[in-house]
Amino acid sequence: MIRFLNVTQKYGTITALRDASFDIDIGEFVFFVGPSGAGKSTIMKLIYREEVVTGGMVLVGRVDVSKLKPHQVPRLRRRMGIVFQDFKLLPGQSAYDNVAYVLRALGVAPTEIRKRVLGALKVVGLIDKVDAKPEELSGGEQQRVGIARAIVNGPSLVIADEPTGNLDPQTSIEIMNLLEQINQRGTTIMVCTHNQQVVNTMRKRVIQLSDGNIVRDVPLGAYNA
Ligand SMILES: Nc1ncnc2c1ncn2[C@@H]1O[C@H](COP(=O)(O)OP(=O)(O)OP(=O)(O)O)[C@@H](O)[C@H]1O
Ligand SMILES: [Mg+2]
Repeated sequence: MIRFLNVTQKYGTITALRDASFDIDIGEFVFFVGPSGAGKSTIMKLIYREEVVTGGMVLVGRVDVSKLKPHQVPRLRRRMGIVFQDFKLLPGQSAYDNVAYVLRALGVAPTEIRKRVLGALKVVGLIDKVDAKPEELSGGEQQRVGIARAIVNGPSLVIADEPTGNLDPQTSIEIMNLLEQINQRGTTIMVCTHNQQVVNTMRKRVIQLSDGNIVRDVPLGAYNA
């Protein structure tokens, strides 16, 4: 599903990733851990082509993302759902509209939109909050909307960069359990996190970065070696 082959990512004189290679299969759940500046977000950004790889190769499915022309990038991103630390919801708009937004932009038929949006909000347990605006929701609920938005188009991959960074420990575990539930339906999940408790509770594959290097890649791992 995802293949990094000897990826070196430079930002000017800074090397954010050094000769990084790993494979992620369809249906895996992988945590990326490591200190601030280790290169975790860089990995995510290369996958959704926010950054263009400066050395080596990044494959998403059969697509070499560095070869995509700018007009092909939206099609790549439609195959994945992206979840952010700060939720990135549209203020003043209902949970429903926040989730429907992408489908409307794609020109999906209204009855289909309704079916898919309500389905996604049901998965995240927010069917009673369809009309609530972000300002009226707790942080955990806002992140649930963010996850509903990420899965509404039926992506094969969900990537989440520090999805529990703004949440308390109990809510963090609930959000991770939700991602696990989505994973159990066959969606590949990649999560960057500093949250030791979450990683140690979930026991998934852990890829640890340090100063741009992959220093550990273990199945059913813990936050620390
Ligand atoms: N656009 C950019 N321009 C210059 N340097 C950058 C850019 N993006 C990231 N970097 C640098 O690349 C390195 C890796 O950054 P990255 O954001 O991948 O780290 P991270 O592991 O996600 O950290 P954090 O846990 O703080 O989110 C850091 O040294 C960072 O300062
Ligand atoms: Mg980061």
